[in-house]
Amino acid sequence: MKFEQASPPNPIDQERVVTRPYTRIEGPLKVTGQATYAYEYQLPEAPTYGFVLGSQIAHGRVTRIDTRAAEAAPGVLLVLTHENMPTQAKSDTPVPQQTEASPQLSGPEIRHYHQAVAFVVAETFEQARAAAHLIEIEYDRMPGQFTLADTTEQGKEPKDAVDSVVGDFEPAFKKSAVRVDLTYITPDQSQAPMEPHATIAHWDGDQLTVHTAHQVVHWVRRGLALTLNLPQKDVRVVAAYIGGGFGTKLLFFSDAVLSAAAARLLGRPVKTTLQRPLIFNNTSHRAATIQRVRLGADEDGVLHAVGHDTWTGNLPGGDSEPAGEQTKYLYGGEHRLIRTRQSELDLPPGASMRAPGEAVGMLAIEGAMDELAEQLGLDPVELRLRNDVQFDPEKGPKRPFSSRRLAAALRTGAKAFGWDDRPRAPRERQDGEWYVGYGVASAFRTNLVQPSGATVRLNPGGTLTVETQMTDIGTGSYTVLAQVAAEMLGLDVPQVEVKLGDSDFPKASGSGGSWGANSSSAGVYAACDELRRTLAQQAGYSPASAVFRGGKVWEGADCTDLSDLAGKSGVEATARITFGDLTKQFMQAGFGAHFVEVGVNAHTGEIRVRRALSVVAAGRILNPVTARSQCLGGMTMGIGSALMEALHVDHELGLFVNHDLGEYHVPVHADIPDLDVIFLDELDDQSSPLRAKGVGELGISGVGAAVANAVYNASGVRVRDFPITLDRVL
Ligand code: MOS
Repeated sequence: MKFEQASPPNPIDQERVVTRPYTRIEGPLKVTGQATYAYEYQLPEAPTYGFVLGSQIAHGRVTRIDTRAAEAAPGVLLVLTHENMPTQAKSDTPVPQQTEASPQLSGPEIRHYHQAVAFVVAETFEQARAAAHLIEIEYDRMPGQFTLADTTEQGKEPKDAVDSVVGDFEPAFKKSAVRVDLTYITPDQSQAPMEPHATIAHWDGDQLTVHTAHQVVHWVRRGLALTLNLPQKDVRVVAAYIGGGFGTKLLFFSDAVLSAAAARLLGRPVKTTLQRPLIFNNTSHRAATIQRVRLGADEDGVLHAVGHDTWTGNLPGGDSEPAGEQTKYLYGGEHRLIRTRQSELDLPPGASMRAPGEAVGMLAIEGAMDELAEQLGLDPVELRLRNDVQFDPEKGPKRPFSSRRLAAALRTGAKAFGWDDRPRAPRERQDGEWYVGYGVASAFRTNLVQPSGATVRLNPGGTLTVETQMTDIGTGSYTVLAQVAAEMLGLDVPQVEVKLGDSDFPKASGSGGSWGANSSSAGVYAACDELRRTLAQQAGYSPASAVFRGGKVWEGADCTDLSDLAGKSGVEATARITFGDLTKQFMQAGFGAHFVEVGVNAHTGEIRVRRALSVVAAGRILNPVTARSQCLGGMTMGIGSALMEALHVDHELGLFVNHDLGEYHVPVHADIPDLDVIFLDELDDQSSPLRAKGVGELGISGVGAAVANAVYNASGVRVRDFPITLDRVL
């Protein structure tokens, strides 16, 4: 099915099951420990245990590696290094890949700290770990560039973030009546998912099966096949449950490649989890940014010059952190200059982390908007309303937004939050020893869609089974897909069984870029549409007028039980949805507004978020429970990015020193007050037959700026170097 434009009414518009607040259908399995994560599969054959040893230098080469003591240690079955690693494909970049070859132990060169230098396989995990520390390694250490601020001069335009040059920015900025010119710094951040990267690999002849923690099944299947020189048909990937991804599980790492290679050599299953301390430097992270925002407005607060320059770094061949992207679309203004510059660093690889670009770009642009509002003496909500625009500001009215309810989100949020009652100036309101402040920011995240397929099968007895490669990284995919299928076939949610995360199922969008729920639902919609046609015809009805309700298909007053149509062998349909160039014709994005109240301790500078509200317009909300959870998670992560999260770079040795969850600070329960989410009614005809949009990354984008703006409103201190730890406020 090729999606052109939603032409209502379609069965989804009944909203009998879709849009209803179902709790996660797999929830009981998870809370009773029965949901099987990658590391937990029990195979018929006893597994062996892999242990990845990481490099102790960031840049240079291994000059000598002696594995004899390790090989002789109790229980050890195999030690792999670059000297005996089986043949793999080559790669042009040291950055792990999504869908291309990503070799491990491919040579003596070291490109980043904790790059895998050896892999030990033993009968037990403890034996593998003990043996790994018996390996003797000598390095030739080379100097490296680990400091972004020292490399901004050499930055190049990256391929994933092209310059936006509209009008003539510099003179327009110079002659603007009111200007801000501000520089923001955001640190390296880690996705740090609760479930570590983990893989069990086993071979049956030439057939490789990997149980692995990954967000997109067909990506890792292709990438692993290319790495190990295998035909894709010989690789099966199973990822039924995933304990968080946040982008790092869009790529595959040493656990997957080395387990697969070792399992083949040993003829036994190999299971490997990256130890927590290795995850921060061995896998991916969000790269630090330096951002300069220049805004020029007239006395009424109407923007005429919008400038956002950003600098990031990565290993050669890596993507940028495109922190200027949202600035292309968020507000009007006829003179625009938005550029990203990327330099080469010798730190671990940078890659996607929840809302790549926006999550940290919004800290800058929405902080600058707050400072501009202050200069203008204007309510920051009003400033944003004055610069709202219903079309892509780069392309003009010929490219409208498919839907954009920014203004409604700001107004609704202001009312619900009590914005009118805000302190008008810093240190105006005190509660005991706490200064109280309010902050606001817009929310924005580009809406992406991906082709997606599914098989749906009407089983004997009248229940339905859905099979798709789609994954559930904790987001609620199982539940949402059950709802969509139930709606389409006139069933109830308990009558639908959903099977996910297996490469034997039809190729699907997977979970990334907030496209998961909308795209994979659209694939299930397409398969159900096909099945409806088949079943209506079987019943002797016209597919156009058949209605599915209550386990029956109806034509007028006439009806047939689905269980009769299923017969003894069932009826199935497989289909795939593709999206044409609607995203070119229409700019698609989710919008919203974040409101935050903080307290800043007058004596210690301690910052406490007291309450927060997000208003979200993201098309049809398929399930308000799971969507709300995505927003709550986004808000929590947004608060973390404002106040806590930072990988600390050792600028001499080139590593992230706080590489565990004890030292890498994320919010805990005590840091998070009651959060509130309001969803605005919206249907997006251009996004999919579901008329939904992504929500998972919209939830984080802008939250941190609202926190920072509230900290200023409370304390009178502007911190533009994140995170805002208490030493920066005092
Ligand atoms: Mo997301 S950063 O595309 O998982």
